[in-house]
Amino acid sequence: MISIIGAGKVGSASAFNILRFRVSDVVLIDINKDVVKGEALDMMQAAPAIEFDGKVKGTNDFSEMEGSEVVVIVAGAGRKPGMTRFDLINANSKIVKSIVKEVVRYAPECKLMVVTNPVDIMTYVAYKESGFKRNRVFGMGNILDTMRFRSYIATELNVSREDIRALVIGEHGDSMVPLVDYATVSGIPIKDLLEKKQIEKIVSLTRTSGADVIRLKGATTYAPTVVIAIMVDAVLRGRNRVMSVSTFLQGEYGFSDISIGVPVILGKNGVERILELKLSPEAKKQLKKSVSIIKDMINKLENNPLIEEFPSKDCMREE
Ligand code: LAC
Repeated sequence: MISIIGAGKVGSASAFNILRFRVSDVVLIDINKDVVKGEALDMMQAAPAIEFDGKVKGTNDFSEMEGSEVVVIVAGAGRKPGMTRFDLINANSKIVKSIVKEVVRYAPECKLMVVTNPVDIMTYVAYKESGFKRNRVFGMGNILDTMRFRSYIATELNVSREDIRALVIGEHGDSMVPLVDYATVSGIPIKDLLEKKQIEKIVSLTRTSGADVIRLKGATTYAPTVVIAIMVDAVLRGRNRVMSVSTFLQGEYGFSDISIGVPVILGKNGVERILELKLSPEAKKQLKKSVSIIKDMINKLENNPLIEEFPSKDCMREE
């Protein structure tokens, strides 16, 4: 069983994808009791059509997450057009801290997946607050950027998206590092198939992809929620998927005491192994910049006395 905390658009759509992929039963938790019960009831009424015979429960009671193998934290304010993910840092770190206390209380053995933005900082906060071993705390960030990177490569080449393999590392944000050297179409490097200008266009589109959707429709939904289901599936079924997630580094890539997107093997135990790639000098430089941006935000956060106060429950709602 898995629990999702935050029943806004992303939390609810993620729950439904998990049911549709028949990955697991779901407990959906939100402070708004009627909304979360309504979301679960709505999904159950769809269950026959998606041949799902499991359970989905909507509740405002944190104790219902007891026994969850995976807990996904989605709750928090979402970006408005023109905002960066970092604009959410103070409000959302209070929410994440208060939720993690409940997770430690009711699901102390779970793998803890963070979606709330800025996800690298929130993964760091969740790791520190939980006291869990680092393999059990990870964030959904660059795997989403990777999906977008793959989609833009396929469009530019006019080939099936299925045949594109790629990786994005670094911040789940403007300083992300799409790894062009590792992008292929059925094993063929894209650098052998595309001009430099085309690749630069794809990288730029990937970087702004989340903000582009938010500017047009106010929030992202389909891409993050299908990725969340894929990550939960990788853990619950022990599939040892190779993907880029935000994880706590202890010397890997030459960095420590930071959560940032790097390629990992994601399986039964969460982050089974961090994969250290050979990076070009340019990729190393970009990753270093990404690290310094995140470290700077962590320092600001940790030196902000306001963060210590835990919020009243009423600020849990994901917008
Ligand atoms: C996005 C959010 C999940 O990039 O950060 O869609």
